Amino acid sequence: MSRKFRMVTAILLVVMLMTSLGGCKGSGKIKVGLSFSDFATERWKNEEILMRKLLEEKGYEVISQEAAHDVKLQNDQIDNMVTQGVKALIIVAEDGDAAATAASAAAKKGVIVLAYDRLIKTPDIAAYVSFNNVEVGRQQALGVMKALDIDNWDVAANGPARVVKLGGSPTDNNAILFRQGQDEILDPLEEAGKIEIVADQWVDNWDAKNALALMENILTATGNDIDAVVASNDGTALGALQALKAQGLAGKVPISGQDATADGCNSIVKGELTVSILKDIRDLSPLAVDLVDKLIKGEKADLEMYTLAELTNDPSKTGEVPCKFLPVYQVNKDNVYELVVKSKFQSYDDVYRDIPEAQRPPKP
Ligand code: BGC
Repeated sequence: MSRKFRMVTAILLVVMLMTSLGGCKGSGKIKVGLSFSDFATERWKNEEILMRKLLEEKGYEVISQEAAHDVKLQNDQIDNMVTQGVKALIIVAEDGDAAATAASAAAKKGVIVLAYDRLIKTPDIAAYVSFNNVEVGRQQALGVMKALDIDNWDVAANGPARVVKLGGSPTDNNAILFRQGQDEILDPLEEAGKIEIVADQWVDNWDAKNALALMENILTATGNDIDAVVASNDGTALGALQALKAQGLAGKVPISGQDATADGCNSIVKGELTVSILKDIRDLSPLAVDLVDKLIKGEKADLEMYTLAELTNDPSKTGEVPCKFLPVYQVNKDNVYELVVKSKFQSYDDVYRDIPEAQRPPKP
């Protein structure tokens, strides 16, 4: 055997050994992929932690990716997880249209795709689980209108109440559903001449900074003459509140949010944010994990069919998706302690941050 030949053989042996060790390193477990649009909104990181834990407890190996609002990156990450051999994917889509490309491609390769919280607009997904998103919008508008005491609003003396609409990210199907619910409450009031919509905007990426800039412009354009803001989540509402605060309007102009975030609930107890919406992710994450587990095992799941047309308010969409929607709850100053603190959705210390001891309720 020549020296060169012996060397090549030795190298080959080392490579083979490393490859087989690499194979051993794989857990042999079934892989499930988690794909998140971003971690800027408080809830998504919490849901990643929760779903990872629940999946690992069921014996799965979890791969997780976050796309930082980058639509193309999210699709690449999904493709990549499919290449890594995931059996199922749980996806929070940045863009419900764009994600359909990667979701369909994954489904066509036999991967079970679950749209989590936000719809992915393709009938190729195995299921869609979320909350009652239209009701979220209704409760946001109802909470703000109640704070305005719209029933007793004196139009003759004050003119119609001047309302700002701040929608979420236009690429998120939920933002459309929240708006649908808000409009169910606001449209009849507008038609009755009780309110006037003085600004109507969408906040790209649900970004608090965008919301702040938009609200500054609205305040300038209206000479601070606004009576209420129907905003679509806590992040954007708190951004808008910074602009209101700078004009001395925080706590005077009612404003809605969503998610019952730690900062949002703290703002509620301080009397600045008027309402938030509690969507209990401690129910949604287990629902998604149990569903994926069932579908992987070929078991039947308890879901209801919805057409894509009704889920998107777009009659041109065809096909159906099996779905499940969980209830939502309006959170305000009167029930934040019961709904959020006592249920431990947020911690007592976070919710009552900066509130003097004497003004705090007792610890639950
Ligand atoms: C979710 C909200 C969230 C928003 C921004 C929506 O799709 O339903 O809970 O606040 O996205 O991340």
